Amino acid sequence: MKHTLIAALSLMLASPVMAGGHAATGDAIAGEAVFGKQCVACHLVVNGDGEKLAGRNGKSGPNLYNIAGAGAGMVEDYNYGKSIVTAGAENGLIWNEETFVAYVQDPKSFLRTFLDDKKARAKMSYKVRDEEDARNVYAYLFSLSAE
Ligand code: HEC
Repeated sequence: MKHTLIAALSLMLASPVMAGGHAATGDAIAGEAVFGKQCVACHLVVNGDGEKLAGRNGKSGPNLYNIAGAGAGMVEDYNYGKSIVTAGAENGLIWNEETFVAYVQDPKSFLRTFLDDKKARAKMSYKVRDEEDARNVYAYLFSLSAE
């Protein structure tokens, strides 16, 4: 029975979730595991009440709460690199599934292409190897934000 429930749940979560015109097509349950392996060293997810929804102690990267639909480089009090701030504040980069999935697979190349600047830099050196993992972790972060 337990398996049926999990299967039904993951089916639900795997179907596109819509909120505020944004969609997440990945599997949030699988994405939670991806977060725990690949993002937790550097990122937390902390909501507006200061409640920790995901992560442990890693905070060399910005808080990823409400990242879906947010402008790039806009978490207050986080000391971003210059390129991502330029991308968000001056060039309108918004995190949706498409931009997020491309960014986390290669932050530096993504910013270089987006800004059309061969010298753009990324403070995030980590690269997600598998596109499906990237999609799933987006769905997970999306599910934590859509309250
Ligand atoms: C080794 C540390 C490290 C790991 C691992 C890491 N990140 Fe990051 N991440 C960073 C840093 C540092 C930044 C800030 C980038 C900058 O300022 O250029 C960042 C920025 C980001 C941003 C942009 C946030 C914003 O406010 O615009 C997203 C999205 C992101 N990371 C997602 C992820 C996801 C998802 C994972 C796991 C798959 C991950 N990161 C793994 C260090 C990391």
